Amino acid sequence: MSPSVSTPGPPPPGPFQPRSWRNRGRMSDEHRARLAERAAALALPNPATAAAWAPTVLDIGFGYGESLLALAQARPDARVLGVDVHSPGQLRAMDALVDAGLDDGTVRVLPADVTALLPALTPSSLELVQAFHPDPWPKRRHAARRLLRPTVLARITELLRPGGVLHVVIDNDTYAGSVRETTADIPALQEIPAPEVPETKYGRRARAAGRTVHSMAWTRQT
Ligand SMILES: C[S@@+](CC[C@H](N)C(=O)[O-])C[C@H]1O[C@@H](n2cnc3c(N)ncnc32)[C@H](O)[C@@H]1O
Repeated sequence: MSPSVSTPGPPPPGPFQPRSWRNRGRMSDEHRARLAERAAALALPNPATAAAWAPTVLDIGFGYGESLLALAQARPDARVLGVDVHSPGQLRAMDALVDAGLDDGTVRVLPADVTALLPALTPSSLELVQAFHPDPWPKRRHAARRLLRPTVLARITELLRPGGVLHVVIDNDTYAGSVRETTADIPALQEIPAPEVPETKYGRRARAAGRTVHSMAWTRQT
């Protein structure tokens, strides 16, 4: 069992912590036991181990795992790493991967804050980074808490191989606008038509609520 999965409590709440971190204590003992079992097969214990595994494709904030499953099925040639802090989502995602027979070594889960992973990864090593429906933090005063902020987008750009793709789906107009503005200021990124987006819980929720879903993609040119 990996230490970061078996530890039930998240770090103490801080000002920049995603809201979803606060619900991690709600799993039953049975779910915790299965989480540990799945983690033994599929999770990497910490960012350093995940970086050493040398992923080529990253799914940031995979939620309940629909996008991670679709990615792993579509890219059997890649080393796919899903990163999320939310334990019930980690369990659902790993259950789905096992059910699909994808516990064969080409896909892994890192139960951690992705901002702890990004510094550890090798520059120019990723062919695809995707982040679908990141927590919006819609209020102006909370904008600094958004995951896809300028420093994070700059680091992701460094991590992409030339020709690598960043694919972001956001259902908050202000957040989408800020990501567009930031990426426009990164000379190495060129906008391209966005790839197809798999059905995810938050995608369904956004469309049901009538929100515009912004699917945006860029390639690293140099
Ligand atoms: C709104 S949900 C979207 C989930 C999924 N991508 C979808 O489309 O249904 C955002 C997800 O990002 C995760 N998350 C938020 N901040 C994160 C961080 N810093 N590192 C890793 N995961 C994070 C949350 O736990 C949550 O599962």
